[in-house]
Amino acid sequence: MADDTTDTKSSNQMWGGRFASGPDAIMEEINASIGFDKKLFAQDIRGSIAHATMLAHQGIISAEDKDKIVHGLNTILSEIESGNFEFSRQLEDIHMNVEARLATLIGPAAGRLHTARSRNDQVALDFRLWVKEELQKTERMLTGLIAAFLDRAEEHAESVMPGFTHLQTAQPVTFGHHCMAYVEMFGRDRSRVRHAIEHLDESPIGAAALAGTGYPIDRHMTAKALGFREPTRNSIDTVSDRDFAIEFLSIAAIAGMHLSRLAEEIVIWSTPQFGFVRLSDAFSTGSSIMPQKKNPDAAELVRAKTGRINGSLVALLTIMKGLPLAYSKDMQEDKEQVFDAAESLELAIAAMTGMVRDMTVNTARMKAAAGSGYSTATDLADWLVREAGLPFRDAHHVTGRAVALAESKGCDLAELPLSDLQAIHAAITDKVYDVLTVEASVASRKSFGGTAPSEVRKQIAFWRARN
Ligand code: ARG
Repeated sequence: MADDTTDTKSSNQMWGGRFASGPDAIMEEINASIGFDKKLFAQDIRGSIAHATMLAHQGIISAEDKDKIVHGLNTILSEIESGNFEFSRQLEDIHMNVEARLATLIGPAAGRLHTARSRNDQVALDFRLWVKEELQKTERMLTGLIAAFLDRAEEHAESVMPGFTHLQTAQPVTFGHHCMAYVEMFGRDRSRVRHAIEHLDESPIGAAALAGTGYPIDRHMTAKALGFREPTRNSIDTVSDRDFAIEFLSIAAIAGMHLSRLAEEIVIWSTPQFGFVRLSDAFSTGSSIMPQKKNPDAAELVRAKTGRINGSLVALLTIMKGLPLAYSKDMQEDKEQVFDAAESLELAIAAMTGMVRDMTVNTARMKAAAGSGYSTATDLADWLVREAGLPFRDAHHVTGRAVALAESKGCDLAELPLSDLQAIHAAITDKVYDVLTVEASVASRKSFGGTAPSEVRKQIAFWRARN
């Protein structure tokens, strides 16, 4: 398997005949996780330093050994950070790579680090620390995306566009209002992220293999040193739980779905047929054959990344669903799913933030489209209810006839002469024309959360204060 780790001892393992050596090499290949879990090196070393410090504090190892261990671990950290560390696949994973190097650096004291610990609680710790940091990063990135939308919403609180249902023109709305719909979505994603951080904020270290340990360890001390709220309460659950990873993936899948809907809208809006937005050169590409083209590749890739993230979520749910308690090696397959989804989500949020900030909004095109398709028909019906006292169902019917007439004449509702309207219903007066414009339509929708610019501005202020 392609891997940039060094295979120092593979030739030594080639004992026996051809038949026996095959499975052995395959065993190493299927078993090793260093190719991907080396990403956890910083968390692994942080966890080991906290563990060794606690062991010394509790008198389980000597202060002298602890100092050697901590010094050695810090040396390994800078070796890895500067690219001067040789990862070995024989040593399977990040935990054993670090420990083996520690033994080379400091000698027998290295062997005391693994007292009262197992790789089962160690990997649970490393991975939790990694996912926690990733969630914090996601929270910051979503805040950036929300800020981009708030700015565009403010700028376009009065810009009228068609609102759609079934992708058919429904009623006029403002572009600011539409932007604020995404603020709500990404705001929910962000609060899911915050809840997930709270859920995972418990320290697994000290659960040991699965049963806890007979050494007088202090799990509250390590929890505190590693920035967790408290230690986990059940050692069996601790080493068999990957909910924190699944929660991350499900949050990523929901956010990805939101990003993909936005991507789809941008793809539609940037077509010459719609022409609502124009993407900046920085976030679009040209065609190698058709010189006139400007393609929304970034939006399309965001739409596609969502598929990968969904795949990762389903993969990990499936990996976990049949596992008896506590740890099983199946769980080693958790990391690549999360790493891949995290990379996809980060890229998708970053690309969308850039696109939203940079895109040029064609307010004239939007307004023209808002007025077509009889988008103020509901306003006519509402006027008949309010001013002529018609029941809404009757008003709906009268309006339907007016729309049919306008359609047959090839004009807008507002272009029908009063005599035509009065022939449909005698109670209609020339005051009706006040509500048939798209501006009047949006301004009238002042209900809480409605599209009127005054309402949209209230919601912008709410989110600005909430950030
Ligand atoms: N590389 C392993 C993983 O990622 C570490 C834990 C191994 N534990 C064990 N009992 N073999 O899951």
